[in-house]
Amino acid sequence: MEDHREDPPTGLVAALARARSPERPGPDTPAGATVRAWAGPPRPIPEAGPGRLDLRTLLRLSLAASDPSGRLRPTPSAGALHPVDTELVVGTGCSLPPGRYGYDPLCHRVHHVGPPVDGTPPGVTAALSVTAQRTVSHYGHRAWPLLLLDTGHATAALLLAARVLGADQCDVRMDGRAENPLAVVRIPPPDGRSPRSPAETADLPTPADLLARRSTPPPLPGLPPRDALRAVLATAERAGEGGLLRWCAAVGPPRPGLMELAPEGTALRHYASGEARPTLAAWAAGQAWFADAGAVLLARGCPTDADTAHIRRAHLRAGFAVHLAQLTALRHGLAARPVGSWQQADLGAALGAAPGRDWVVHALALGTRHADEENPT
Ligand SMILES: Cc1cc2nc3c(=O)[nH]c(=O)nc-3n(C[C@H](O)[C@H](O)[C@H](O)COP(=O)(O)O)c2cc1C
Repeated sequence: MEDHREDPPTGLVAALARARSPERPGPDTPAGATVRAWAGPPRPIPEAGPGRLDLRTLLRLSLAASDPSGRLRPTPSAGALHPVDTELVVGTGCSLPPGRYGYDPLCHRVHHVGPPVDGTPPGVTAALSVTAQRTVSHYGHRAWPLLLLDTGHATAALLLAARVLGADQCDVRMDGRAENPLAVVRIPPPDGRSPRSPAETADLPTPADLLARRSTPPPLPGLPPRDALRAVLATAERAGEGGLLRWCAAVGPPRPGLMELAPEGTALRHYASGEARPTLAAWAAGQAWFADAGAVLLARGCPTDADTAHIRRAHLRAGFAVHLAQLTALRHGLAARPVGSWQQADLGAALGAAPGRDWVVHALALGTRHADEENPT
């Protein structure tokens, strides 16, 4: 049987170099099945009894298809191709008996694929991998960075859903060392402590926020208010692994340039002047609307000499952080859309630093829903 989870035959380092080149993908090829063919019959996810981790709601809020065509999910995905597959290793304290299950997001059902492995911890461990063919079908040689970014988004979606359900002690692993799974989220069962205080839940999205999340269709004009831009950057910085990625926002008039969070994290500051958005639009597969986006959050790093683990980690983390940043943006009333296809986007070199050190890895285009917002200068 063909294994669509494997890294590209030429290796990820070569695949990323090619994805960053100006070469255009060829015509579309078949995307294959939209869901992994898990063995065994599908079964519904039971309602959770008291004190049990509610897997039905967890998956509904994070990964379940949410429109009748079955294509749209609470997570965004490049080209809406949704390549991420999820296996659940269920321990004690959950609404399913212990065991290993494959998740079908279209039917919102699970397939029992095996008994629990020795040492399975209580709660659920979600292991995320990809069926590359889905994304390759449209993006061709540009697919691999997108597959990793998509996995990062899905990881963040699971984490947010878990937190909404009251699980604060989740463990996320995206170290980039393994190809399968690419990311793991461990969610413990409820610990029976008293409900969280309003202060503890102030920054959390609601279940409705998670289900309503959509990427705003382009164009996204309008400079975001300073506070909202600061909050989006702060979310990304917090979620990004320190040192792995750097974050900034490109803004347009009246003071075009790049902004970043000041070291103490409470203020925004300009650190480069000049209009960057048209160049970003050219680098982002020539998406012209990008040049008029109100602001563009940028994740940068992943140098040319990065090895496979570094490439995986940087892209997984960028997708994870941009997902959380998108929720922050939407909660601040902004329009927001992730943008993940980048060619020749050597931002460091464009700013006069050494080439090959500071590539754009992922981005979130931001705008206001009303054209006459205040400006962040
Ligand atoms: C990794 C990634 C890359 C994306 N790149 C682009 C892009 O280059 N241009 C664009 O318009 N949308 C892009 N999107 C947004 C997707 O098109 C969008 O998520 C998808 O159509 C599903 O719609 P939804 O987010 O509203 O659910 C990207 C999304 C992800 C997760």
